[in-house]
Amino acid sequence: MISKIATRTFASSAASAYKVSVLGAGGGIGQPLSLLLKLNHKVTDLSLYDLKGAPGVAADVSHIPTDSTVKGYEPESLSEALKGSDVVVIPAGVPRKPGMTRDDLFNTNASIVRDLAKAVADHSPKAAILVISNPVNSTVPIVAEVLKSKGVYDPAKLFGVTTLDVLRASRFISEVAGTNPVNEKVTVVGGHSGITIVPLLSQSNHKDLDADTRDALIHRIQFGGDEVVKAKSGAGSATLSMAQAGARFAGSVLDGLAGETDVVEPSFVDSPLFKDEGVEFFSSKVTLGPSGVKTIHSLGNLSDHEEELVKTAKDTLIKNIQKGVDFVKQNP
Ligand code: NAD
Ligand code: LMR
Repeated sequence: MISKIATRTFASSAASAYKVSVLGAGGGIGQPLSLLLKLNHKVTDLSLYDLKGAPGVAADVSHIPTDSTVKGYEPESLSEALKGSDVVVIPAGVPRKPGMTRDDLFNTNASIVRDLAKAVADHSPKAAILVISNPVNSTVPIVAEVLKSKGVYDPAKLFGVTTLDVLRASRFISEVAGTNPVNEKVTVVGGHSGITIVPLLSQSNHKDLDADTRDALIHRIQFGGDEVVKAKSGAGSATLSMAQAGARFAGSVLDGLAGETDVVEPSFVDSPLFKDEGVEFFSSKVTLGPSGVKTIHSLGNLSDHEEELVKTAKDTLIKNIQKGVDFVKQNP
């Protein structure tokens, strides 16, 4: 008996085939991030690079039956790893231990990020660059300075990944309000460390929290990273939630590149919002498009309390950003 088999064909267009490179793919974030990127159907070429371990991670995730190729690269092959990349995600660098601030990572991570940025400038100058390595408030300006020095800086293609703050804000507000976090959207602006992280609760579903509850929630969102660092007691910082955050942000960047509309995520970008006050980079909602950043949104209506938080964040951001800029000037 001949059975009738219904077939459907799905058009696959070149516009949704992308090479994504992960620099630091062997690490705590890099491994689960690589796994999640392997599950993204827009990623057709996944390039995994690390000082050590990337070929093993690549062999492992390559067995997952999605329609993409995966290659692992060792240090001598960084140029090949990067060549033709549409998106480069950078989680390379050391994580915090209890008692450290993100700024304490600067001395080690600044040169790692500077050198990787040089390689991106040389081998995939048109790629969108997603910086995860801390301190993000300084590493993003480091990448910008390197790209400027090589004449390939495109501010629309450089992003500090602040999505973990957005995920935490949804989760933590749902715990306070007793709701499903899936339905909680909180815009988080500013930067990615302590008091520079400013959740705009007045624009959330829960604008009328009493002052004590609101302050405790804001503090938890600002210092959520410390909870994980403490719980891991010396074994590092957030990796799994960060991988989810990084995969979500990379997915949104790819959606934008592919021409999808209304793709909006907060991100730490070269921003006009407070440039006249000396703040060169600032995180706010960004609409992502075929060339990277399409629109940088203003902050919208803020409560008086949020105005104060943003003001405090700006003072610290100016210093963090300058530190990154000075580092590249003094250590080109
Ligand atoms: P990890 O130590 O587990 O992994 C880091 C990886 O980077 C290692 O595999 C290491 O070999 C690799 N590496 C170091 N130097 C390199 C180089 N020059 N080229 C390529 N690879 C290199 O650390 P992790 O937990 O994955 O964290 C990585 C970074 O991400 C840290 O700086 C951490 O603070 C940061 N982080 C940022 C966020 C965020 O929200 N943006 C969240 C969590 C962690
Ligand atoms: C986080 O927010 O979890 C990361 O920035 C890692 C850290 O050092 O807290």
